[in-house]
Amino acid sequence: MARRRRIYEGKAKVLYEGPEPGTLIQYFKDDTTAFNNEKRAVLDGKGVLNNRISEYIMTRLNELGVPTHFIRRLNMREQLVHEVEIIPIEVVVRNVAAGSLSKRLGLEEGSSLPRSIVEFYYKNDALGDPMVSEEHITAFGWASTQDLDDMIALALRVNDFLSGLFLGIGIRLVDFKLEFGRLYENDMMRIVLADEISPDSCRLWDIETGEKLDKDRFRRDLGGVTEAYQEVARRLGLMPGEGQSASAT
Ligand SMILES: Nc1ncnc2c1ncn2[C@@H]1O[C@H](COP(=O)(O)OP(=O)(O)OP(=O)(O)O)[C@@H](O)[C@H]1O
Ligand SMILES: [Mg+2]
Repeated sequence: MARRRRIYEGKAKVLYEGPEPGTLIQYFKDDTTAFNNEKRAVLDGKGVLNNRISEYIMTRLNELGVPTHFIRRLNMREQLVHEVEIIPIEVVVRNVAAGSLSKRLGLEEGSSLPRSIVEFYYKNDALGDPMVSEEHITAFGWASTQDLDDMIALALRVNDFLSGLFLGIGIRLVDFKLEFGRLYENDMMRIVLADEISPDSCRLWDIETGEKLDKDRFRRDLGGVTEAYQEVARRLGLMPGEGQSASAT
């Protein structure tokens, strides 16, 4: 087999050169990190689950007209995506207080917010991904005002879709992180959703029990991380050999 060129290796994924120009292969590793790489582990099967969950969500979003980098899943751990110029901003949408928001503003985890709140973080590991404002983003040229408007509008559409999707399977979408990129086609540039949407990038709480079904299980040493991701996949109807109705009440 011809050796593929490795473009980038991150903490959770590897990017390889794709089969056609303008494409990349995103390989999902089992590696998990938190607190800016201070805490690490390898969670057997996590990459497979995130590949599958992200495929499902990106496919649904594409169908709704939310543009994404996703083209198709190739195998258990890899998906083909459009290569984009990543905008170095993490866009976080919050519906319920948790994590750093609770800490910074002294809000009890789980208290609902007056409305959905969009936040921005500058993607820079050396600085620990600091929170920034729209002013910083446009002043330093990380994104234009138009890019930002597009990113916010898309993030809110993703929030509406995901909130409903998860509510339908008994899960509360507390918050999530998105990355966007610039996709150049002919002479056109579009902002599209990139990276992944998975329990690594969302906070997902069981509606009934409040049980965490996301990466906080790892951050907070709650155990059962892969099992929780598997439960999300199962409820989405993504576990092979398990009819969705078989377990439904
Ligand atoms: N379609 C795409 N085109 C180009 N780069 C992408 C695309 N989708 C995601 N990426 C980038 O690929 C990398 C995915 O790897 P991973 O998530 O492991 O990175 P990471 O360790 O979180 O580091 P980073 O701080 O760079 O996000 C990220 O840097 C992400 O921004
Ligand atoms: Mg990442």
